Amino acid sequence: MKAVRVHELAGPQNLVLDTIPVPAIADDEVLVRVRAAAMNHRDIFITQGLYPQIRLPVTLGSDGAGEVAAIGSRVSGVAEGDRVVIDPMLGWGDDPRVWDAQAANILGMPHDGTFAQYVAVPAANVYPKPHALSMEDAAAIPLAGLTAYRATFTRGGLKPDETILITGIGGGVQTFVLLFAKHVGARAIVTSSSDAKLERAKALGADVALNYAATPEWHKALRADGPIDLVVDSTGGETLGKALEAVRPGGRIAVYGRTTGDATLKLFSLFWKHVTILGTSMGSPWDFRAMLELFEQGLRPVVDRVYPMADAATAAQRLADAEQFGKIVLRIE
Ligand SMILES: NC(=O)c1ccc[n+]([C@@H]2O[C@H](COP(=O)([O-])OP(=O)(O)OC[C@H]3O[C@@H](n4cnc5c(N)ncnc54)[C@H](OP(=O)(O)O)[C@@H]3O)[C@@H](O)[C@H]2O)c1
Repeated sequence: MKAVRVHELAGPQNLVLDTIPVPAIADDEVLVRVRAAAMNHRDIFITQGLYPQIRLPVTLGSDGAGEVAAIGSRVSGVAEGDRVVIDPMLGWGDDPRVWDAQAANILGMPHDGTFAQYVAVPAANVYPKPHALSMEDAAAIPLAGLTAYRATFTRGGLKPDETILITGIGGGVQTFVLLFAKHVGARAIVTSSSDAKLERAKALGADVALNYAATPEWHKALRADGPIDLVVDSTGGETLGKALEAVRPGGRIAVYGRTTGDATLKLFSLFWKHVTILGTSMGSPWDFRAMLELFEQGLRPVVDRVYPMADAATAAQRLADAEQFGKIVLRIE
């Protein structure tokens, strides 16, 4: 089968289209014929050697949708031909509050991932594809949608009458946060380095849009605009410090990434304002099921561009250069 692989840690341009054997499946696994896959920043970090415990060579890809091609001998409830979307969170465990740190890992390194014609995954990780969505739209959802759902609702506790601040709306996860926030009727403020992305966000329902590059003191401008109940951030660094200044007394900040590095926070603001900072990563099987339900109710993911799998390196470079708005999808022929 064809697969997009990493052989050396030399950046996204060095993704290689290989021919490798179709994976064997264990008794509790299914083999999925992947029709579409999607990229995440994780894939870029792996090509750059910026991820712990990298195993090479490896087939990248956490997100995928396709048809079940074979089932293991102990699998029930899934049949060959089922059209499915894959939950990339492997080994979450039994506790909805936190994953099992020993067992948990993410599809697409160390396990071979979805940028291939076939992928082997536990049967428990495949779910019926939302009916109204194409394979390409369904493939855009899993990792980013799951992370966004847990950050926004399970951890962030967003309510319809609240205001949410979403920093860096160009991010794949953040676009889902905006979709979900508007779906429940919350007021949404977004920031971006790009005016074009801010316009796209407004078209998706963002109520306030601010360019953080043109307005470095955006946190002060936003504080004057009204109370912010919840911030969702994956930037870290200075942005997190500014988010702490922007959020209302008693507000919450959900953090799932540190794209620009670690943060130094004004602890006085934290304790004097009684702010809650919530760490969150990926999501549980319960989060995944609840998140998919939103797409049964008519939501559609924002897809930036669709590339043939042979152009994976070009697609990955677009993500590395932060040119995208929404998800970058690979068509797996
Ligand atoms: N813990 C988890 O489970 C989990 C899951 C998914 C992702 N992540 C992490 O979350 C981060 C985002 O992932 P992704 O796949 O969504 O990435 P992505 O699609 O590549 O998004 C990156 C975006 O970050 C924004 N950004 C960069 N510098 C910024 C700054 N100084 N202030 C505000 N925004 C800034 C940019 O937004 P603009 O273009 O709008 O400026 C950029 O488009 C990564 O660090 C990733 O590793 C963690």
